[in-house]
Amino acid sequence: MKLLEAKDHLEMSRLAADIILEQVCNKSNSVLGLATGGTVLKTYQELILNHKENDISFAQVRTFNLDEYVGLSKKHENSYHSYMQKHLFNHIDIQSSNTFLPNGEAEDLERECISYEAMIDHMGGIDLQLLGIGQNGHIGFNEPGTSFNSKTHIIELEESTKLANSRYFNSLDEVPTHAVTMGISTIMQSRKILLLASGQHKASILHQLFKSDVTLDIPATILRNHPNVIIIADQEALSELHQLEGNVYAQ
Ligand code: F6R
Repeated sequence: MKLLEAKDHLEMSRLAADIILEQVCNKSNSVLGLATGGTVLKTYQELILNHKENDISFAQVRTFNLDEYVGLSKKHENSYHSYMQKHLFNHIDIQSSNTFLPNGEAEDLERECISYEAMIDHMGGIDLQLLGIGQNGHIGFNEPGTSFNSKTHIIELEESTKLANSRYFNSLDEVPTHAVTMGISTIMQSRKILLLASGQHKASILHQLFKSDVTLDIPATILRNHPNVIIIADQEALSELHQLEGNVYAQ
């Protein structure tokens, strides 16, 4: 894993956007794996800025999102479908037929998982997967204990995940209990992975990501086995590593 140290959230987002733009410029029909949540928002804003100011085109790009809540309408303001429209897709020249998210409203969710996985394969696999990280070490919604061999599947969200995401809902009770998520093996098949971490609340998990052995208890540790991972973290997220190491390192 290669670690890039950013001064702050803005610098992290700019560095991340640069890597995504480089991918798109080198391969105009890149398949991007995308994430939602707070960490990646500014990165999307930077992509939009580059699209508008530097004419970077996403017309050929295909995208697959990591996850979607089960049972939430696509139109619900907190669905990840809505998030992607609002924070990225509506502002760039991507074709909506090239953007894919799991359908959390599918009648047959098992079948939905299989077809999502098949669609990723059909598009040639993911070139660059963008990830955030949960405070419990989840990637996508692969909560601790999820098999490293997992493909796209349905997962019950941990209490801590629901609590973290309840900031977007009126109450904790409104947060869906389940999600469809790409599996850990799906994520690991991406050719390149870019994980972002920002803020003091990510300091402990980032420290564990670098220091812990690969363990099911901290799903993100599996990334240590991937040959092409870049982690971009800001100073706050790196604070526990810094405290213990005295400096930043890459391995
Ligand atoms: C989102 C996702 C999650 C988030 C993670 C961090 O699609 O799959 O793994 O990346 O929960 O969320 P934030 O960025 O809100 O701290």
